[in-house]
Amino acid sequence: MLHDSHPSVLQRNDPPALIRAYRGDRPAVTPVWFMRQAGRSLPEYRELRVGTDMLDACLNPELASEITLQPVRRHGVDAGIFFSDIVIPVRLAGVDVRIVAGRGPVLENPVRTAADVASLPPLDPAALAPIREAVALTVAELGTTPLIGFAGAPYTLASYLVEGGPSKEQLKTRALMHSDPDTWAALLTWCAGITGAFLRAQLEAGASAGQLFDSWAGSLSLADYTQHVAPFSSLALDAVRDLEVPLVHFGVGTGELLAAMRDVGVDAVGVDWRLPLDEAVRRVGQGVTVQGNIDPALLRAPWPVLEAHLVDVLERGKAARAHVLNLGHGVPPDTDPTVLTRIVEFVHAHA
Ligand code: CP3
Repeated sequence: MLHDSHPSVLQRNDPPALIRAYRGDRPAVTPVWFMRQAGRSLPEYRELRVGTDMLDACLNPELASEITLQPVRRHGVDAGIFFSDIVIPVRLAGVDVRIVAGRGPVLENPVRTAADVASLPPLDPAALAPIREAVALTVAELGTTPLIGFAGAPYTLASYLVEGGPSKEQLKTRALMHSDPDTWAALLTWCAGITGAFLRAQLEAGASAGQLFDSWAGSLSLADYTQHVAPFSSLALDAVRDLEVPLVHFGVGTGELLAAMRDVGVDAVGVDWRLPLDEAVRRVGQGVTVQGNIDPALLRAPWPVLEAHLVDVLERGKAARAHVLNLGHGVPPDTDPTVLTRIVEFVHAHA
């Protein structure tokens, strides 16, 4: 019967290694994918993107789908990650945000006062149609390879809105959190709403797992994270919990926050390169899977150096209930993509 061969049915009966690992059932071979696997490290990506603005590319379903598929075909990774950006729901709500190459998201009018927050527009669910379409196209092409959907966590999104662009320590953002807690709560509630809707659109259209990126949470104290940020990350994920797909929570420099990030209610935590995985497991316990944590700097090291690092990461990952191999952050744009393919081959051959 036709419907028996639909990918989602196959996955329910015999889940792919990635989904098993996220759920805590350790597969024989460690699944591997790379944050920012789609992007400038691939010549085929650079070629497709010529003349198209980043956010316009994300909103063109055929283009977004093709870019998502490129690294899966090339590297044989265990998952696709949907090609989009954390600020797409901000743009779809009608806020003037663009992505400046080499820099990141930039806003014409930063959001800093109670009045600014009150005038943030709602996100019309119909605006998410190109996202749903791109995911559906991609899932149909991927067959049994799972697609990971994602969204920015409210704190990381809010940091772009308040600062008006990328920022090292998010000083204005963290000042607002303490100076005007009501405006802060309203801003993070708005971010949770749009980002939760963005993630839900991807999962409803066929993505098999969801990753929440709180990339800049590492600049927060544990106390601030727990009181002023985690409740809103949890709120964002409440939008998708009924779908019962595995959820992953990642940030950079979040060694001190890992247990609190777990407690937002996820199946896996992403770990950057600063903390060895066995130490991460000591902090989060056996109730979650760990994902990580190749140092992106070593992608440019001679292969024997990178191989020794890979073996170390895989061995330390055995402390966890299950491990998904990834980088500690995204693929740097100048990475030699053949190195990524070699990592996938090595990990798949390593039991
Ligand atoms: O392959 C994938 O991982 C999927 C695609 C993806 C992109 N952005 C594509 C992208 C994902 C998951 C994101 C999430 C994202 N966007 C995050 C969280 C992940 C992280 O890196 O911590 C953040 C913080 C953003 C905001 C953002 N968008 C930044 C910092 C940048 C980089 C700016 C630059 O040019 O270095 C972007 C732009 C962006 N998003 C690019 C890509 C491929 C580069 C744009 C280009 O190719 O011109």
